[in-house]
This record gives sequence, structure tokens and C-alpha cells, in this order.
Amino acid sequence: MAEIVIVREAAVAGALVADEIVRLIRDKPDAVLGLATGSTPLPVYEALRPRLEGMDVSRVRGFALDEYVGLDPAHPESYRSVITREVVEPLGLDPALIRTPDGSPEGIERHGEEYEASIREAGGIDLQILGIGTDGHIGFNEPGSSFASLTRVKTLTEQTRRDNARFFDSIDDVPMHCITQGLGTILRARHLVLLAFGAGKADAVAGAVEGPVTASLPGSAIQLHPHATVVVDEAAASKLAHADYYRYAYDNKPAWQGL
Ligand code: F6R
Repeated sequence: MAEIVIVREAAVAGALVADEIVRLIRDKPDAVLGLATGSTPLPVYEALRPRLEGMDVSRVRGFALDEYVGLDPAHPESYRSVITREVVEPLGLDPALIRTPDGSPEGIERHGEEYEASIREAGGIDLQILGIGTDGHIGFNEPGSSFASLTRVKTLTEQTRRDNARFFDSIDDVPMHCITQGLGTILRARHLVLLAFGAGKADAVAGAVEGPVTASLPGSAIQLHPHATVVVDEAAASKLAHADYYRYAYDNKPAWQGL
């Protein structure tokens, strides 16, 4: 079972996860981070900024979860741009060590395999940050995605395109296709940290944590992982049947265990 941590607000979650990432980088200066985009991980990146000041992050490596297909990498909403703006620049990481899947249509059929090879060459991902979509997707693995899937092109659901339209002028500008790490790729990371905030995520979180393990709710793949941590606010936790137990377990957690 994943460890479920229920916090008062997103900023507390951000601080908790940022502390864990700092610990990781102290132990392993060339740590490999799995980076999510979207709104959810922002409190983590914000909390990391002051914590990483004065630390040597020159060897930290990173792999984004996903990218839109056919969106100019220079477009402000390409995940290349988002990761540069929200992670690489504020945290002072070396841009040459931070990768996003290549979403250019030219040769797209090979880009998934190439991305998998780069992750392998880096020695795998140490800590993968995840958000979850309202339809239960992680990365852009929409419902029905194989648990064995690796980085590949997927078609975004209408729901995901609607959810992400807030970053664009209209839903028509949200690309139809993406290239995303697969559920199999995500499950290979050594530590999964899934965050979710707000009532809109409550069903997806309950399904991922307590529902059956099913490709119909891709986030439920975390139940197969030996080290998964789910950090949610009260609203996102509101549909968890065993919330009291999760609070009790966390409050009585041995200090040596870390996150
Ligand atoms: C982003 C990603 C997605 C998002 C999910 C939630 O790289 O892979 O799975 O985490 O769509 O998005 P937000 O955080 O914007 O609600």
C-alpha cells in the first residue's frame, strides 16, 4: 500500500516533498528526478527554491513525464518551456541535464524509445513526482493505458484537453496528442510521490489509492509500487474510506522511515 499523507494545505505538501528531494540530493548529488508539469507540483518547486540555495545542484538530472506532440518547443505551454521556466531556471539546474520527451512530429515513432534509452543511461529515476488528472491519468496515460507501457504517443481525452484549456486561449489550441512516459516507465522509478489538491481530485485519488488496480484508472498503478507516497490536502482526501487510519499511521510513523 502507498503511504498516504494528508496535509492542511498544498504549501505543507510542497515543503514535505521538497525536504525529501533535498535529502536525496545530499545523499546522491547526481540524483535523477522525474518532473511533472501542471499546477500540482508547483508548491514543491517553490519550496525547493530556498532549500537548494547554496547547495551544489550542478549534477542533478531530470526527466519530464510528458510533452505535447506538434507544439513548438518555444511555445510558452510546451512542457519544455514550462520545465525551463518553473524548474530549471528558478532552481539553478543545468539545462543540459534536464530532458523532456521530443514531441516534434518528425521521427515521432522513435522518440519514445530514445527517451527510454536516456532514462536507462541515467541509471533510472530516483524520485518521480506525479500529479493525477480528474480522469485518473498519471503522466498522460489516459484510462485504458497498459501497465506495461513505455514512453509513447497517446491521444488526450476530451476531458484532459478541457482541463488543460486553461493554459491555452481555447480548447482548440490544446494539442490532440502527447508523448508520455508509460505506466511501466513510471513504475520503474525508485520512489513515486503523487500529489493532489482540491475536491476536483477526490474521486481520482480515492480510485487510485483504494479502488481496484485497473487500467481504467491509471493512477491505481501506484498500488503495485513498493515505495509510493501520496500527499494530498483535506479536500483531495475527502473520499478516502480509510483517511483516519492514514492519519493515525502517519502520526505514529517511526522517525527513521523518512517519506
Ligand atoms: C503533467 C502530467 C499530468 C498532470 C495532471 C494533473 O506532467 O503528467 O498527469 O499531473 O494532468 O494536472 P494538474 O496538476 O494541472 O491538475
